[in-house]
Amino acid sequence: MSWKRGSQDRYYKAARREGYRSRSALKLEEILRSKKPRYGDAVLDLGCSPGGWSQILSSVVGPKGSVTGVDVVDPHIRLPNFHFLQMDMRDQVPSVGPFSWIFCDAAPKFMGVRDVDMARAQELWYACLNWCDKTLKQGGTLVMKAFQSRELDEIRPEIARRFSSVKFVKPKASRRESSEIYLLCDGFRSPSSSDAGSSSPESNLTP
Ligand SMILES: C[S@@+](CC[C@H](N)C(=O)[O-])C[C@H]1O[C@@H](n2cnc3c(N)ncnc32)[C@H](O)[C@@H]1O
Repeated sequence: MSWKRGSQDRYYKAARREGYRSRSALKLEEILRSKKPRYGDAVLDLGCSPGGWSQILSSVVGPKGSVTGVDVVDPHIRLPNFHFLQMDMRDQVPSVGPFSWIFCDAAPKFMGVRDVDMARAQELWYACLNWCDKTLKQGGTLVMKAFQSRELDEIRPEIARRFSSVKFVKPKASRRESSEIYLLCDGFRSPSSSDAGSSSPESNLTP
């Protein structure tokens, strides 16, 4: 979401007032009201630019914790507990982690062609699950943005294989007319329990 669009909406104004780098930050604030990372946790923020979620996460985990942000665009955040990896999240997962939580607000640039847009979004969801397999601790939590669609229905069995509980959350700051939804997935168990948190570089999860 750019600052230009909807600059008069109240969430835009609230985010600006709070000093957040994105309007999206307000969605995360609401999601974290039910459960949040602990002080000292290491967390991963996939699709982190311009950095609103990373700002919040950095203060939640505090100086003893860490936030690793991944994006193709550098958010230029300077926070002592923030580390940035400039890369395409669909590429090979590097040796990082293990993380207690993974956050993924990544979204492709929409072209307005439904099938193309949803196929590209689905690629990112599969990539996110791949990061979970390689870097999320057993019992860890995933917060992932998705769009209600048949492409989401297709990937749901893969999500259910990995998490003991999956909740769908629609934050108030998310536009009502949008199919955007957030998945709050708890109790990660690796589909092959030997590779979780091991940062294994091989990927075998594909759309
Ligand atoms: C909605 S924005 C995230 C906003 C962020 N949570 C915040 O609060 O500032 C989506 C981000 O996903 C990133 N993205 C899209 N495709 C990506 C990919 N293949 N690899 C890495 N980042 C990607 C975009 O560059 C964009 O910065």
